[in-house]
Amino acid sequence: MKLLFVNACVRPQSRTLALCKEYIRLLSEQCDVEITEIDPIKSDMRSFSYEMLVQRDKDIADNDFSSDRYFAAKAFAEADAILIGAPYWDCSFPSSVKVFFEHICVNSLTFRYEKGECVSMCRARQLCYITTAGGYIGDKNSAESYIRDMCVMFGIEKASFFSAEGIDIYGNDTEAILEKTRQQIEDSFKKGGVN
Ligand SMILES: Cc1cc2nc3c(=O)[nH]c(=O)nc-3n(C[C@H](O)[C@H](O)[C@H](O)COP(=O)(O)O)c2cc1C
Repeated sequence: MKLLFVNACVRPQSRTLALCKEYIRLLSEQCDVEITEIDPIKSDMRSFSYEMLVQRDKDIADNDFSSDRYFAAKAFAEADAILIGAPYWDCSFPSSVKVFFEHICVNSLTFRYEKGECVSMCRARQLCYITTAGGYIGDKNSAESYIRDMCVMFGIEKASFFSAEGIDIYGNDTEAILEKTRQQIEDSFKKGGVN
């Protein structure tokens, strides 16, 4: 199976990244996994400028996606499953995640319109989103709501969300919270996981 790992974990000591690695380890125990990792920042993905939009419109009109500009969109379209790892920042995810989606939402490459309806051109039917938060997310969860909207757009039927919360709160047992989330990820594999 082809897994696209969108790694939006910024810090080298990222706790979110550690949970993502655990997810990948568990998945690799279950099946052969070919991983494509995209770090939107290291890949130098930039927020769209007017010039970039004009170029993209031209490429769409020409149906020419041969440019490297579309490497992320192609990887997204070809993946069987998507894993997104992103820390909880400012009540959401780092802006690099939004920039990643700007780059992969390409008309005629990852989706198209049929009779006015948006139709996915992507293979993936499952997505896992892993985050860690210093405090508690509660109902301030625009990240999950945005990712769910993207799943609908791309016909991704199964979306799983895991969050380790309150890990920066003084007095909390950070390791125990992370272990509980790790266990929840492991349990999800036992219940069928990704297949
Ligand atoms: C730029 C930035 C913004 C953050 N915003 C929030 C926030 O809105 N709410 C919160 O509970 N924690 C916030 N935090 C704390 C992180 O959610 C927490 O430290 C998280 O575990 C970082 O993940 P990492 O270890 O994978 O880098 C923020 C941290 C940073 C660096």
